[in-house]
Amino acid sequence: MVSRRKFLSFPCAAALTPTALLAETSSKNISEAQSGFTVLQATTGTVQLAPKEYPATNVWAFDGTVPGTPIRLKQGERVQRVFENKLKQPSAVHWHGIRIDNKMDGVPGLTQKVVPTGGRFVYDFVVPDAGTYWYHTHHRSWEQLARGMYGPLIVEEENPPQVDRDELLIIDDWRLDNKAQVVENFGMMHDKSHAGRTGSWATVNSMGMDRAALSVQQNERLRLRLINVANATVFNLVLEGMQGKVVALDGQPLAVPEALGMLTMAPAQRIDLIVDVVTEQGKTAMLNIMSRGQKIPLMRFAVEKQRRDKPLETSEALPANPLPVLNSTSLATAPVTELRLEGGAMGRMRSATYKGREMGIRELVDEGMVWAMNGVAGMTEQPLFTAKREQTQRLKMINETGWPHGMHLHGHHFREVLADGKLGPWRDTLLLQPRETREVALVADNPGDWLLHCHMMEHQMAGMKTWYRVLG
Ligand code: C2O
Ligand code: CU
Repeated sequence: MVSRRKFLSFPCAAALTPTALLAETSSKNISEAQSGFTVLQATTGTVQLAPKEYPATNVWAFDGTVPGTPIRLKQGERVQRVFENKLKQPSAVHWHGIRIDNKMDGVPGLTQKVVPTGGRFVYDFVVPDAGTYWYHTHHRSWEQLARGMYGPLIVEEENPPQVDRDELLIIDDWRLDNKAQVVENFGMMHDKSHAGRTGSWATVNSMGMDRAALSVQQNERLRLRLINVANATVFNLVLEGMQGKVVALDGQPLAVPEALGMLTMAPAQRIDLIVDVVTEQGKTAMLNIMSRGQKIPLMRFAVEKQRRDKPLETSEALPANPLPVLNSTSLATAPVTELRLEGGAMGRMRSATYKGREMGIRELVDEGMVWAMNGVAGMTEQPLFTAKREQTQRLKMINETGWPHGMHLHGHHFREVLADGKLGPWRDTLLLQPRETREVALVADNPGDWLLHCHMMEHQMAGMKTWYRVLG
């Protein structure tokens, strides 16, 4: 998947697909008072992703930097930003994993109008949960995300756990040409119908694998917040020379922290770790990518000093967030909706409904569609399900395809209903392996129309998205 200093070169980058000109004439929702909010600007920039003998990479980015400006605040506070779009394409900002007011969810066509070039949109919302979240474009994301349109959103606990340092590790996977520029073959059919757009160069906080590093101290305690912002790459990561626990998934604390093993991260997933550097001074701890049995160094942690003579005592679980109650009683009577994931290369899909019409696979491909859910490619007229407020809803996802999918629900976190009837951890994105069936349950306490889609951006664009409704 990824090899050091080996850029795939694409001699003839496929022509750009024409910009979807969906922008409304104006989408200003700004008042005088709000004009004092901090600006978050979608613009262009350059960043040195590749080794220094290569040129800097041209990117599209929030405030011109990759990752975009970090947003950090306390639980219960408000994020208030005037989003300004200086790109030559329309855009919008989605606040991934935030149990947000529907109007602020940032999904053009569902929760707001797309923000045209030169347009502005005011985002103003409360963050109910502490944890590791992120924001990203939600328009032409197969292109805009691949160009760098993302940033971290960190919500601090009232009483954060005792650590020496709190570090963000934002992991991306870039498709660069031999001049270290983003290959502009966005949404190409092969990517859509296979694993999605995977790259040839991984970065942590925009530092390439050749130089991604952090100096640490022996027996230092770190909180590491990992975010997979890649378009489609599932990362399998192993941390060497550190010991500790997984304390949160997708922002939500684990009631009982889990042992640190292989960390599998679908696109959009987050993992919070609390670890102690058990490597000696003068040596190096490592974050490695595991790919096809090979270990590829991603990030180095040079141990420079000694923080204390032995690691701290084991840490506690993070304080729970104010999530709704989801238990076996409510589960027993909850309606079950099935969602069959269909299509893709080597799939058995022969036809699907698209834009209200049954089409054969050839015609679907001509329309750019290669995936369907419950026989429909792309958005449906009617929601997948409608839940009454506070109702528990079950969703059984049946992956009939030969590909993994990172399924994401907007607006709510969910818990997996495990085979033994127990409930898994709260998450907002679940990785389904090929041919796997997994069931989740949520308490529909957040009214509105919410998107539900595969976070492999090329799958989403090629049919894998739908929506559900929670009544007010
Ligand atoms: Cu990060 Cu619609 O998602
Ligand atoms: Cu998918």
